[in-house]
Amino acid sequence: MNGSSQNAYLIEEEKTVLIDTVWTPHRFDFVEDLKREIDLKKIDFIVANHGECDHSGSLTALMDEIPDTPIYCTAQAVKSIEGQYGKRGWNLQVVKTGDSVDIGNGKQLVFVEMKMLHWPDSMATYMTGYNILFSNDAFGQHCAVEELFNDRANPCLLNKEAMKYFANILNPFAAILTKKLDEIGKLNDDCSLPWRDLAREPLADRGKVRGVGGVLPGGSGHHRL
Ligand SMILES: [Fe+2]
Repeated sequence: MNGSSQNAYLIEEEKTVLIDTVWTPHRFDFVEDLKREIDLKKIDFIVANHGECDHSGSLTALMDEIPDTPIYCTAQAVKSIEGQYGKRGWNLQVVKTGDSVDIGNGKQLVFVEMKMLHWPDSMATYMTGYNILFSNDAFGQHCAVEELFNDRANPCLLNKEAMKYFANILNPFAAILTKKLDEIGKLNDDCSLPWRDLAREPLADRGKVRGVGGVLPGGSGHHRL
């Protein structure tokens, strides 16, 4: 076991956007960490790519601070989020494949439903301009390194864990995933930010997207495709 991590991403363009949060037990640390990065009131909206509690578990603490902030998610994610946390009056905005939001500086976020990859509520979010895919649970591995990025990890270990993750989580849905890859490819993806573990290196230089992920026992990290 090489640890695991959860990744939340803060985008700072003309609009400020938070993509995902972290697991429920880390929710207060997460909000405090986020406050150190930014005034929470500057967050224009949140994207919830998936309702599972290791993605959405900090929403309760976060929304206590910014209760009116819109949360973009799929219709199924409304069900999974309200099913877990109750109807709290959050401003849940349903999106579907192809919907987009302008975040300024000539960039948009485009949503792609990723049904059954690996929950019915899953989606990915694609950022134009930088061509970044926030791929959610579809790609990743349980392998955390403190340096956060894939090229700082042992490549043999990384590939082994990526194969293991695919076999355990995604293999039953491989046919769906193949179709989705075609769909996503048309969006001109050249960089991927999985929610689970290591992120690809180019973002480190771009500086506009900051990982604010929490940590699961065993280490911290952000992964790659
Ligand atoms: Fe998940």
